[in-house]
Amino acid sequence: MKEVKIESVLQVFDNFDELPVNAASLMKQAMAARENAYAPYSKFSVGAAILLDNDEVVTGNNQENASYPSGLCAERTAIYYAGAKYPDAKIVRMALTAGSRIHQTVTPIPPCGACRQAIAEYEVKQDAPIEIYFMGETGKVAKSNSLANLLPLVFDKSFL
Ligand code: THU
Repeated sequence: MKEVKIESVLQVFDNFDELPVNAASLMKQAMAARENAYAPYSKFSVGAAILLDNDEVVTGNNQENASYPSGLCAERTAIYYAGAKYPDAKIVRMALTAGSRIHQTVTPIPPCGACRQAIAEYEVKQDAPIEIYFMGETGKVAKSNSLANLLPLVFDKSFL
């Protein structure tokens, strides 16, 4: 038996103002998308903005449903739209922001496991890393240089 250690590395910015210009502009678009979230049940709004290598930006937000499991997270709403509209484009970067109408979110809020799996599919498909910036409404912003860094032991097509 031997132990295998798996590490994730994040870069953490003290606040939005510390972000590089290209990430700040994408995060602003994620914040705008968050405002349009349809989250009447959780009151937790998430915005996602995706920069593609054709310079298009695709945004999305969470879409809830009275039948709760039928709703969809912001990240998947956005990434599936990007895949549907620009099937040949590569994803360069994603910006994610989450806020609650019940309490202020002040720490970086990472994408849920199901969204990580969905993003992983596109990172594997394009064979190039996707940068992911994530934050609450305010406060520190975390950056991962790839999705793989956020989802060690990913399940991908190599197992099929
Ligand atoms: N949500 C997202 O949009 N993205 C995530 O990564 C985590 C959760 C949404 C789903 C649901 O509408 C609300 O946030 C509360 O879970």
